[in-house]
Amino acid sequence: MSRSNLQNHALKQSITVRALRDEDIEALSNIESESFSMPWSADDFRALLTRDYCRYLTAIADGEVAGCCGMTVICGEGNIDNVVVAERFRGRGIASAMLSKLLAEGEEAGVEAFTLEVRVSNRAAIHIYEKLGFVSEGIRPRFYEKPTEDANIMWRRK
Ligand SMILES: CC(C)(COP(=O)(O)OP(=O)(O)OC[C@H]1O[C@@H](n2cnc3c(N)ncnc32)[C@H](O)[C@@H]1OP(=O)(O)O)[C@@H](O)C(=O)NCCC(=O)NCCS
Repeated sequence: MSRSNLQNHALKQSITVRALRDEDIEALSNIESESFSMPWSADDFRALLTRDYCRYLTAIADGEVAGCCGMTVICGEGNIDNVVVAERFRGRGIASAMLSKLLAEGEEAGVEAFTLEVRVSNRAAIHIYEKLGFVSEGIRPRFYEKPTEDANIMWRRK
C-alpha cells in the first residue's frame, strides 16, 4: 500500500456509517446548532424516525457521533438534506463516506434520481457533490435566509 493510501486507510478506519438512532439525536442537534444559522431541533430529528419515506444515516468516528445526512424519497426521487459533520471531524472523508452509502442504499431501493440544494458559496460541499456525480441544473434565487443567498440546485440522474 502506498504512503497516501496508508494515511487514508488510517483516517477512515475508525469511521462507521449506520442508520440514525434515537440515541444520536442530542449530539446531532448540537452539531446542527454549531453548523447552521437555522438548525434542526432534536424534535425535527425525532420526527424523521417515524417516517418510512425518510432514510437518515449517522457517522460515528472515534466512538462519537460525528455527523449525519439524509434523504426523503418521493415518487422515485431522493431529496437529500441535512448533510453535516462536526467541525472537529471535517476533512476526514466523513461526508463523502455518508453520502456514498446513502446513494448506494437509495439506488438499491430503486431511487432513479437524487437532488439537493446548496448555498452557492459552499465550495467544500459543492466539491463533494460533484465528486459523487451531481451536476448543477439551476439557481434558485434568494432561497436561503440568515444570510440571504442563492441556492445551487444539483441533480444526480441515472
Ligand atoms: C460540507 C461538509 C459536510 C463536508 O464534510 P467533510 O466530512 O469535511 O467532507 P469530506 O472530508 O468528505 O470532503 C471534504 C472535501 O471538500 C474539499 N474541500 C474542503 N474545503 C474546500 C473548499 N473551500 N473548496 C473546495 N473544496 C474544499 C476537501 O478537499 C475534500 O475533497 P477531497 O475529498 O477531494 O480531498 C462539512 O464541511 C460541514 O458540515 N459543513 C457545514 C454544513 C454544510 O455546509 N453542509 C452542507 C449543506 S448543503
